[in-house]
Amino acid sequence: MVARASAAAKIKEIEELPLNSILQGDCIEMMSRLPDKSVDLIFADPPYNLQLQNELWRPNMTLVDAVDDDWDKFDSFEAYDTFTRRWLAECQRILKDTGTIWVIGSYHNIYRVGSIMMDLGFWILNDVVFVKLNPMPNFRGVRFTNAHETLLWCKKSKNQKKYTFNYQQMKQINDEKQMRSDWEIALCTGNERLKINGEKVHSTQKPEALLYRVILSSSLPGDVVLDPFFGTGTTGAVAKKLHRNWIGIERNPVYVGAARERIEAVRQTHLDFEVFPMHNKRTQPRIAFAALLENGLINPGTRLYYARPGRQKTISVAGDGSSTVPIATVRADSSIKCGEFEGSIHLVGSKVGGAPSCNGWDHWWFQGEDGDFHSIDELRAAFRDLQKENAASEAQS
Ligand SMILES: C[S@@+](CC[C@H](N)C(=O)[O-])C[C@H]1O[C@@H](n2cnc3c(N)ncnc32)[C@H](O)[C@@H]1O
Repeated sequence: MVARASAAAKIKEIEELPLNSILQGDCIEMMSRLPDKSVDLIFADPPYNLQLQNELWRPNMTLVDAVDDDWDKFDSFEAYDTFTRRWLAECQRILKDTGTIWVIGSYHNIYRVGSIMMDLGFWILNDVVFVKLNPMPNFRGVRFTNAHETLLWCKKSKNQKKYTFNYQQMKQINDEKQMRSDWEIALCTGNERLKINGEKVHSTQKPEALLYRVILSSSLPGDVVLDPFFGTGTTGAVAKKLHRNWIGIERNPVYVGAARERIEAVRQTHLDFEVFPMHNKRTQPRIAFAALLENGLINPGTRLYYARPGRQKTISVAGDGSSTVPIATVRADSSIKCGEFEGSIHLVGSKVGGAPSCNGWDHWWFQGEDGDFHSIDELRAAFRDLQKENAASEAQS
């Protein structure tokens, strides 16, 4: 209920924007027409400024289909930098204060782009490496195979406090391990590659798998995702699939037509918030450990066992109550005591773990009536569910 209500509020707030449509034209001009602080996420795949001098031939005398398009040509580095500064300034203006931006590039442009972003005040959260599983070889054998591109994921400024990062969802799609910043993804080939009369529609169509990770990690259903260099509409296709709103900007009418057709063909399933979660830990209301005591989910005197997430199986309790891991006792005022340490679950967790800080919710476990060990975070989740149920029944009465 809570999730549905906040999604409805979001949709109302953005109804002025040209949602789920492609604006054909220059991205700087088109973005200048959009209101300040109106989009949640930007994915930008700008021209690389490859500066190819000559045609590139394979040893078998076939011509390499390189990026030699007019849209990638600039007279000088200075011209490229001026263009980059202008479109990035527009992105910074239209991003919400909670928004983030991804920019992808190769060694030809990403260092210039990154430097300009830093000068404009963007703050880099990560540089993610898109490791190409099937890169084009270096046909002349004069350099290493160029097998990756770099994505800069940035917030608007150093001081920006809030932004969306769906940590748990990223961990989930990475086999329950924290997602790293090197993403191994195949280039866009096969059926996914858009073709007209057997020819590629676009020389640099990005793989949907890349956009899936970008959009899933840093936006929520109902958010507005903008792509100023839309090309074949990869961002729009994935945003639609994931129930995000999208806005594409692209100059070339052939690409615009191909993108429209492609996105129209995407089948969107019904929006079910169990399937497309609306929340992440950061956006959920804070729950104090005391609330679990006050509401009877845990009692004073309960023993808490300190362990790392996923290691609870290593906890064993002997007949005399001693255990293989440190034990704390919950006190009536919601502090805990473990040997000489006392204080909040976080403070005592950091002392016991010998770390400068600790999220106590992830480290303390209790023995349930079933004899198994459970994380106190499960109790917090149960308390949140209880709150939601109460809110729902109040709304009905
Ligand atoms: C690297 S490609 C993007 C490919 C896209 N990510 C995809 O998956 O198909 C860059 C695109 O930006 C477009 N473009 C270049 N300069 C532009 C500008 N000033 N305004 C709008 N589009 C522009 C080009 O036509 C090209 O399609």
